[in-house]
Amino acid sequence: MTDRNQNTLDELKKEATVALAKCETIGSLEEWRVTYLGRRGSISSVMRDLGNLDADSRRIMGKASNELKTHLQEKYEDKLQSVNSSQSENSDLSSFDVTLPGRIPMRGSVHPTTLIVREIAEAFAPMGFRVVEGPEVELDVYNFQKLNIPSDHPARDMWNSLWVEYPNEQNLQPFLLRTHTSPMQIRIMEGESPPIRVIVPGKAFRYEATDATHEWQFTQIEGLAVDKGISFADLKGTLDAFAKIIFGERRKTRFRCDFFPFVEPGAEMSIDCFKCDGHGCRVCSNTGWIEILGAGMVHPDVLRGVGYDPEVYSGFAFGMGAERISMLRHGIDDIRHFYGNDLRFLQQFSQK
Ligand code: PHE
Repeated sequence: MTDRNQNTLDELKKEATVALAKCETIGSLEEWRVTYLGRRGSISSVMRDLGNLDADSRRIMGKASNELKTHLQEKYEDKLQSVNSSQSENSDLSSFDVTLPGRIPMRGSVHPTTLIVREIAEAFAPMGFRVVEGPEVELDVYNFQKLNIPSDHPARDMWNSLWVEYPNEQNLQPFLLRTHTSPMQIRIMEGESPPIRVIVPGKAFRYEATDATHEWQFTQIEGLAVDKGISFADLKGTLDAFAKIIFGERRKTRFRCDFFPFVEPGAEMSIDCFKCDGHGCRVCSNTGWIEILGAGMVHPDVLRGVGYDPEVYSGFAFGMGAERISMLRHGIDDIRHFYGNDLRFLQQFSQK
């Protein structure tokens, strides 16, 4: 009995060793482990049979089978390591199905605000306007003073502007998160001489409550053209061309007087409602017209302030809300969608 069992163990060892040598993949190694070392494997069954032996044989055979188990376990670990490292070297293709389709990774897409900014910039590009960006934290001088906005103007009220704390007592220049992109008109005119034609997209900030059409942070697009002999007709022609590119060839534009301290005359431009063709509907609040931007001829005092002679140079400027244009274009009913980070909204703009 003892002999037979000793022989059984020797044979088992030989057989397992030969089989192990043939294992070249993680899969076959796992099969080997189940066959020899598993709960229902050969070693376990030898051990289960120990109960049938007499005490002496059980002691001897118990020790021997334990040793064999440890031995095979060590060999298995060694082999596992070598198969693992050779698999990562020449990536064993037999262990997985190369014909399975890959997992498609999540792809981001361009934000709708970026899309409309690009589209608007592209509309002005053929008319000679280049894109420039400017600081979001501005000096009072650029955001207000040089734009002819006097100190008692309501826009300077702390209720409308987000002022930044002075970092130290020495810094006497008040600054704020820009309330519009117009300060870039001044920075550009101070930095270069005419002819100037620029589009300035960027963030603007206002200290106000949010609702469907107001956000405390939004995107503006400023435009500025300065040269000899620029007239209000150029302003109208340029903006009319822009409206037709963005809202369709059939759109009509309407200019009415408006007031902005840095332009004279100042105007607001509306387009006839693209939804009802001017008859009156919900989109245009039954007026037939939709206001889309503010504009005007650069004020002579502003030109003088940056060192241009208003007798020689003239220009026009305009400003619009990027999200507002996108909302009109796509029928979006709430500006807060642009800042909600909701994929259900954003994915509707992903370009496949
Ligand atoms: N900056 C103005 C605003 O935020 C818009 C504007 C720009 C008006 C340029 C006229 C000229 O309302």
